[in-house]
Amino acid sequence: MFKNIQSSAADPIMSLMEAYLQDANPHKVNLGIGLYYDEWGNIPLMRAVQQAERRLLDAGQPHGYPPIEGSAPFAHQVQALLLGADTVGDSRHLATVQTVGGSGALKLAADFLSHYLSRREIWVSDPTWANHWAIFGGAGLRVNAYPYFDNDSGELRFAEMLETLGALPAGTVVLLHPCCHNPTGTDLSQAQWRATIEVMQQRRLLPLFDLAYQGFGGGLEEDGYALRETLKTDLDFLICNSFSKNVALYGQRLGALTVCCRNAADAANVKGALKTLIRRSYSCPPTHGSQIVETLLADPALRRMWQDELDAMRQRIRQMRLQLASGLERGGSTLDYRRIRDCHGMFSYTGLQPRQLDELRHRYAIYLVEPGRMCLPGLNPANIDYVTSAILDVTRSA
Ligand code: LMR
Repeated sequence: MFKNIQSSAADPIMSLMEAYLQDANPHKVNLGIGLYYDEWGNIPLMRAVQQAERRLLDAGQPHGYPPIEGSAPFAHQVQALLLGADTVGDSRHLATVQTVGGSGALKLAADFLSHYLSRREIWVSDPTWANHWAIFGGAGLRVNAYPYFDNDSGELRFAEMLETLGALPAGTVVLLHPCCHNPTGTDLSQAQWRATIEVMQQRRLLPLFDLAYQGFGGGLEEDGYALRETLKTDLDFLICNSFSKNVALYGQRLGALTVCCRNAADAANVKGALKTLIRRSYSCPPTHGSQIVETLLADPALRRMWQDELDAMRQRIRQMRLQLASGLERGGSTLDYRRIRDCHGMFSYTGLQPRQLDELRHRYAIYLVEPGRMCLPGLNPANIDYVTSAILDVTRSA
């Protein structure tokens, strides 16, 4: 029955992690997948999460079915986190559903755009997260790319980006990264966001924001800037967000899709459509992760604790950026160290060449995603000198 099924190409990010896990080199360093590791190289169990889980366990609740869209308090917390507690009023009408991670939110958005809005294409940044192509392409949309970043010069292609968006027909879906651009780590400034939003408003485009790293750029508030500016317009838009990274709940697969609509009737209909898509896909979401987030966001002390932990994570990444950049500068690397120093979030597009990446992987067991994306939280005090001298070595022999 299955003899005609072709072998599938491996996912570039997940397969790299598997290769890393199998590598026997004791000095190996994982700078591949977008995962936050602490200074000892471990995935953190945040203290605020631990305390929320303890409360849930003590409450001894049975594991009943949640509503198809997830719990109402969770949706409300998500809206306040994305758009600000004071901006979630009746001026705008929001439909929020819990999803299976940020990827699940994107897949649900893709199905919604295709089945309910008859959209046949989407525009993503060049470059973007590889799975954007897979998710939207897999849902039957043609994926096009607008200019975003020049990997040779390390510069944004902002003028070309605006020009491309400015020529799109009304109603075209445009995917944007509000913060911590994946894979380049290079974000728009606030002035560039305002210019982009103005073009989208003039052209009546349909923005879809993928917010997977809220809190890792400038902070929780700062990273919502593009969303809050768009909220001031009369545009309808979609937000996919994830709690994998900022609550370190990777395996709980927790995210949300929020659709900002013009009026209450639209929002109710959109929510109904999303519920239909969820019910006929996986019926309803898992509850453990959303109960953790609901608990920690509702309690001021736990929320503070979580925010402080998240701030410390962001600052640790910054520290690693500065340390690696100055090591490369001092060592006279041919690599432009500013591409590491000046980026935001977990990633930098380093500008390392394929041969150098290959040497890093096979001589030093240092793993980066092609074509040179480095995930900075993989660095820590125990491995940063090793990584610095390995990069100096492979870039010296360039
Ligand atoms: C990444 O870009 O590495 C992360 O978003 C993890 C993933 O699922 O690819």
